[in-house]
Amino acid sequence: PSSLWVSWVTGRAQVGSHLTPLDPTAVRSEVWYGERPASADTVGHPHVARGSAEVYSQLYPYPGLLNYTSGVIHHVRLVGLRPSTRYYYRCGDSSLKGGLSDERSFVTLPAPAPDAYPRRVAVVGDLGLTGNSTSTVDHLARNDPSMILMVGDMTYANQYRTTGGRGVPCFSCSFPDAPIRESYQPRWDGWGRFMEPLASRVTMMVTEGNHEIEPQGHGGAVTFASYLARFAVPSEESGSNTKFFYSFNAGGIHFIMLGAYVDYNRTGAQYSWLEKDLQKVDRRATPWVVASWHTPWYNSYSSHYQEFECMRQEMEGLLYQHGVDIVFSGHVHAYERMNRVFNYTLDPCGPVYITIGDGGNIEEIDIDHADDPGKCPSPGDNQPEFGGVCHLNFTSGPAKGKFCWERQPEWSAFRESSFGHGILE
Ligand SMILES: [Fe+2]
Repeated sequence: PSSLWVSWVTGRAQVGSHLTPLDPTAVRSEVWYGERPASADTVGHPHVARGSAEVYSQLYPYPGLLNYTSGVIHHVRLVGLRPSTRYYYRCGDSSLKGGLSDERSFVTLPAPAPDAYPRRVAVVGDLGLTGNSTSTVDHLARNDPSMILMVGDMTYANQYRTTGGRGVPCFSCSFPDAPIRESYQPRWDGWGRFMEPLASRVTMMVTEGNHEIEPQGHGGAVTFASYLARFAVPSEESGSNTKFFYSFNAGGIHFIMLGAYVDYNRTGAQYSWLEKDLQKVDRRATPWVVASWHTPWYNSYSSHYQEFECMRQEMEGLLYQHGVDIVFSGHVHAYERMNRVFNYTLDPCGPVYITIGDGGNIEEIDIDHADDPGKCPSPGDNQPEFGGVCHLNFTSGPAKGKFCWERQPEWSAFRESSFGHGILE
């Protein structure tokens, strides 16, 4: 509500084998802003905030794979803003002629209070950069949201070049000889241009998905380089020392963004941060707690069925104990809304889980249900790209003793396979 990060890119990205990265200190990172349009004020915007810039590279020490080094990525944090207030801004380097962007404006989120809410929160996952992504973003913009929750898998840069722009459900099956899963970084720049008209005026909060892992270097030693360089999130502000998990308030909602691709075990840093964050929530100021991460715990589609069961077993008790209200995830390319559930049992105190991973990416929409005849995956399928495998058989209900239910599970309220986004009003 009182603080916001503005991020943008200057300079040109380069692709090739011998690259010299740009110098991120050669250009200033400034945001000029105020509560009136610059044209209405003879002195222009009255405030300036300064930040920092960085460059990242995607390096593949294998023949035939193209290396990449980014433009200069700027991040500036505006602080001391008034909640629920429209601000006008330009970003860039004011020492250069024409060095500032066109003017844009945004409205800050409401201050924490039990009677003030963001009017509309758009939720979108697994968006990509296709014709379907375009129609999703068009519809989303027409809904005029006051905030966007992006639940991971943004560009599908790693499903682009090697697969000839088509994507494959199993990369290692289709390309068994590939030394590494190549990720075509210019897709990130294209995605940034695609999102700019929306993201330059509506706050967008992100969490990482498996398509952001993007391993590079020898043996894939470096991961998430693009995600970490391109997005600024309120980590320090929420007591987290990583961009992989953080929290923030928007009116009467406390949002918690978790990382499914970093340690989620009870003994780990994320779990202890989450415990502290949940303890700090003041339900008189933020009566609602909404959590989000990429991989659904409750999912009755064949795709990714029970994939992140280990994460559920580690963390579900903590979320339940603190009365988390709603959980948004993506990863499965379809919509599914669960009935209130805890430990696979209907429970009026459990969260409502919603899967909304149908943004419209290069892969297909998911249509098979694990309870459809012949569609129950084998427990060896759906291996997570991070963490362990904890697949289980059900102990009660029509699936007792079996891996899949024989009809839509009672914890699954509604499911639909179509592209789109969600609106939380
Ligand atoms: Fe995913």
